Amino acid sequence: MQYITLNNDVKMPAEGLGTFLMSPADAEMATLNALRAGFRHIDTANGYYNEAGVARGIRRSGVPREQVFVSTKLWPSGYTRAAEHIDKTLARMGLGYIDMLILHQPCGDYLAAWKDMEDAYKAGKVRALGLSNFPVEKIQEVIDAAEVKPQLVTVENHPYHPNDALREYLSQYGIVIEAWYPLGHGDASLRNEPVFAELAAKYGKSPVQVILRWHIQKGNSIIPGSKSPAHLADNLDIFDFVLTDDEMAQIAELATPGKTYYAADESVYEKYLSIPDDFDVQEARYQEELKAEILAASDEYWKAQFDLDVERLRKTCDPKAPFVHMGITMDRGAEEEAIAQRHIVTVKRDDKHVDVRALVGGNEAINPFVATETYHRQADGSWKLISFVYTHILPENYQFRFLSE
Ligand SMILES: NC(=O)c1ccc[n+]([C@@H]2O[C@H](COP(=O)([O-])OP(=O)(O)OC[C@H]3O[C@@H](n4cnc5c(N)ncnc54)[C@H](OP(=O)(O)O)[C@@H]3O)[C@@H](O)[C@H]2O)c1
Repeated sequence: MQYITLNNDVKMPAEGLGTFLMSPADAEMATLNALRAGFRHIDTANGYYNEAGVARGIRRSGVPREQVFVSTKLWPSGYTRAAEHIDKTLARMGLGYIDMLILHQPCGDYLAAWKDMEDAYKAGKVRALGLSNFPVEKIQEVIDAAEVKPQLVTVENHPYHPNDALREYLSQYGIVIEAWYPLGHGDASLRNEPVFAELAAKYGKSPVQVILRWHIQKGNSIIPGSKSPAHLADNLDIFDFVLTDDEMAQIAELATPGKTYYAADESVYEKYLSIPDDFDVQEARYQEELKAEILAASDEYWKAQFDLDVERLRKTCDPKAPFVHMGITMDRGAEEEAIAQRHIVTVKRDDKHVDVRALVGGNEAINPFVATETYHRQADGSWKLISFVYTHILPENYQFRFLSE
C-alpha cells in the first residue's frame, strides 16, 4: 500500500474502500473483506447510515484499530450541532477516534461546523479534517476562517472529469484531492474506453486497474466502492506497474467538460438540509435488515427440515400408533400440524452468532420447546446453519411426576 502524507504529517493510505449506498450488513462484510484483502482505509458517512456496520467489520477483522484509517462525514442538517454529532459518531463507531472527518456538503452552517471540527481535532477526537463537494470559493472561505486548515478535499473525479484546476489550486495549501466515483460509479462505458483495454493488455492488468493506477499517478487518494472480494483484491493490485507520461496524456484526452455523474444545485441542498439529523436510526435499520436476512435463511432451512421430519415420521412410525414427542403423547396429525405450523418469534444476536428461537405452533400451549438455530455469516455474505438444537421448555409451575408416583 502506498501512503500519502497529509499537510499535518498524518499518513493516509492512498487507496481506501468506499461504502456509499451499502446497507449496514453489506458495509460490514465489504469492510471485513477489504481489510482481509489488505485495505487499511475505509470511507463512510453519517449520511450513509452504515457507520456502525463499518465499525463492526473493522472489529471483526482483528486488524488493530491504529492500522486502519477511518474516514467519515458530517451531514449538513447536523452542522449547527456539529459538536454533538461528532460525539455521537464516535459513540456509534466505538473506535476511539476518527482519522478523517469531512463536511459532506457545502450548504448549511459549514463555518460553525468547521469550528466544532477544529475543537474535536484539538481534543484528539479526530486526526485530520476535510471538505467534500466544496467549490473553490467556499474552500477559500473555510481556509480564511480556519485555525486548522483542511487536509483533504473530496470531489467527483475520474478520467472524464479530472478536476485539474482544483488540484492546482489545492496544491498551494498541500491539500490532497480524494476522488469519489473514481470508476465513474461503475459506468461500463468509462472502463470500456479503448485506451484502457490497450493499456490493460500491455501491463497484464484490467481496465479498472489502469483507471485506478491513473488516479494514483495523478496524486489522488481513491476510494473505489466494491462488495466483491475478487474486485477488492484486483483494486489493490495496482502498485506494481507505472503508466508512462505519454500514456497519462492519452488518458487525459478523455476529459470532457461537464461530464459528471452527479450535480447539485440550491434545490438539492435544500433537500439535504431537510433530512432529519438522526443518524442513530442506522442501528435500528441494521437490526431489521439482519432479522429479515436470518429469518429468510431460517425459513429455507426449516422448509427442507420439516419436509424431512414429516417424511421420517411417516417412514419410522406405525401409522396407527400415537406419536410420542418429548414426553407428551400427541396424535400423529397434531404433531405433523405442529411441525408444519412453525412460528419464529425472536432473533437474538451477538458478535459471534445468531440464535433464532422458534416456538412450534400447536405444541407450545401444552409443551413448549424452542428450536435454536445458529447461523454464521460466510465470506460471501450468505448465512450457514452451524447448529440446530431443540430444547424443551418447561412451564414455570411445572411439577415433575415420575412413573413410580
Ligand atoms: N463525498 C461524497 O459526496 C461522495 C459521493 C459519492 C461517493 N462517495 C464515496 O466514493 C466511493 C466510491 O463511489 P462509488 O462506489 O459510488 O463508485 P465507484 O467507486 O466509481 O464505482 C463503484 C462500482 O464499480 C464496481 N467495481 C469496483 N471495482 C471493480 C472492479 N475491479 N471491476 C469491475 N467493477 C468494479 C463496483 O461494483 P462491485 O461491487 O461489483 O465491485 C461498483 O458498482 C463511495 O463508496 C463513497 O465512499 C463520496
